[in-house]
Amino acid sequence: MKGNQRNQLILKPFFIFISLTCIFLLVISLQSHVRNSTTFQPLVKQPLSSHPAGGLQIRSGFSSYDKYIQRQLNKTLNPKLRKVWITRDWERKIEVFARFFTDLKRKNLLSNDSKALCVGARVGQEVAALQRIGVSDSVGIDLVPYPPLVVKGDFHNQPFRNATFDFEFSNVFDHALYPSKFVGEIERTLKPGGVCVLHVALSRRADKYSANDLYSVAPLVELFQESEVVHVRTVDGFGLDTEVVFRKNTKEKEKQKQKSSHQNQPS
Ligand SMILES: C[S@@+](CC[C@H](N)C(=O)[O-])C[C@H]1O[C@@H](n2cnc3c(N)ncnc32)[C@H](O)[C@@H]1O
Ligand SMILES: *[C@@H]1O[C@H](CO)[C@@H](O)[C@H](O)[C@H]1NC(C)=O
Ligand SMILES: *[C@@H]1O[C@H](CO)[C@@H](O)[C@H](O)[C@H]1NC(C)=O
Ligand SMILES: *[C@@H]1O[C@H](CO)[C@@H](O)[C@H](O)[C@H]1NC(C)=O
Repeated sequence: MKGNQRNQLILKPFFIFISLTCIFLLVISLQSHVRNSTTFQPLVKQPLSSHPAGGLQIRSGFSSYDKYIQRQLNKTLNPKLRKVWITRDWERKIEVFARFFTDLKRKNLLSNDSKALCVGARVGQEVAALQRIGVSDSVGIDLVPYPPLVVKGDFHNQPFRNATFDFEFSNVFDHALYPSKFVGEIERTLKPGGVCVLHVALSRRADKYSANDLYSVAPLVELFQESEVVHVRTVDGFGLDTEVVFRKNTKEKEKQKQKSSHQNQPS
């Protein structure tokens, strides 16, 4: 009896020690697991406030502009993918785009008379959709042309004169290596009062061909220096979740803006 009690007295602290060690090891292993997964996906795990420009980050890893273009072309020129885009995907994508554009027509942001451009249009389903709903003067640009719907052009340096279009659509903002040039070129080629519609991904990261990551609408609003936001809404557009619509200021509005910014400057 006595020996038994003495054994228990020795064993009890021993078991407590073993249990505490197990819990300690478990916590340590869980922590290192969490740390490993963040090192593999640093872009996704960072809190929004730590992103520069309020939530727009250019991806590293493009050693030159040529490398960036090569990477874009790698996918766009893939013969197997091109076949899928012009066969299986063709009608399905036109129908979805046509619904988006019909909605914009209803909101008087687009009309049959609009001269329209689709930026980064690849094989041009969005251009075909515009033409189908009656916006007949529509064209697209892409690094790879697909005539007659899509002509060759880099969106960092659009091959059009100032004030050419009433309407521009793009779902490829994430492919811009220089977002301020992407937006600057849209504003340059839009007529005063013209409308720009962007479909972007905010709540999930775009694909491995993207050149930037956007975490909120704020950086876009900042980039569109000659335009005002018309609306922001949630959409379901081929993995892109947010529609942001801008209207380029009329000449009168630009003049007013310049005047008031002069007045606000210290003399
Ligand atoms: C995700 S795809 C979108 C295609 C099309 N808008 C659609 O929804 O089917 C991105 C496209 O952007 C094009 N692109 C990438 N960088 C570009 C650039 N600097 N200038 C013009 N087009 C570019 C690519 O060639 C590719 O066709
Ligand atoms: C694209 O990259 C793959 C390897 O990642 C390569 O095999 C292929 O040749 C490239 N295609 C083009 C069109 O550059
Ligand atoms: C625009 O074009 C479409 C398709 O051709 C046509 O059905 C529609 O009536 C036109 N709308 C206007 C306002 O002319
Ligand atoms: C075209 O627009 C750009 C940017 O707004 C401006 O700097 C340039 O002077 C304009 N060019 C012409 C020919 O008006």
